[in-house]
Amino acid sequence: MQMQLLIDRIRKDGIVKDGDVLKVDAFLNHQIDVGLLEEIGKEIRRQFDGKKVTKILTIEASGIAIACIAARYFNCPVLFAKKTKTLNIAGDVYTAEVYSFTHQKMNRIIVSKSFLHADDSVLIIDDFLANGKAIIGLSELVSQAGAELVGAVSVIEKGFQGGGDRIREMGIDLHSLAIVESMDPEKGLIFREEEGIH
Ligand code: G4P
Repeated sequence: MQMQLLIDRIRKDGIVKDGDVLKVDAFLNHQIDVGLLEEIGKEIRRQFDGKKVTKILTIEASGIAIACIAARYFNCPVLFAKKTKTLNIAGDVYTAEVYSFTHQKMNRIIVSKSFLHADDSVLIIDDFLANGKAIIGLSELVSQAGAELVGAVSVIEKGFQGGGDRIREMGIDLHSLAIVESMDPEKGLIFREEEGIH
């Protein structure tokens, strides 16, 4: 379910750049509007009402702030996957490879086995969903641990890049709080209409 407050904020302060990039540095990715994040956190809790969540999993860097505020409404810890270029990984970790189309590079993401267990019920939260590789990589870490994947949240999904549809086809319960269907520096932003807006 999309979130009207967030859509209004993206329309007001988001900047559409060439190359299909949406800058939300004014409130999400650089300067952070904590009050807005609180509303986002409440909305995520509402959308997963009644679901048991023992851990919120995200990826550094921009996912961390959102995950931390959402975690206050779930009363659970946040675990953030670290990005590393090192192939010789020290210690006991779960690991997955995540290719970034936006940055054209491969990242290895890791979490320590100490913090993700088979009895965890995990909610994945990330800021942007483009090609879906970050959420898919995070879901691989959850399955390596033998934990339950409750679902995934992206604050802003770029619907035209197809990652969200791929994740839904995988059977992951994906909730995107704003889905951009198309964007153009001249014509502006169009949000997906068939998804409900709250
Ligand atoms: P994917 O995970 O869905 O496959 O996406 P992709 O690799 O293409 O995105 C890589 C990075 O670019 C991610 O951040 C993602 O949040 C960000 N990103 C993708 N599209 C946009 C966009 O239109 N606007 C903005 N502002 N960011 C976008 P990252 O570099 O991996 O992490 P971070 O350190 O910035 O959090």
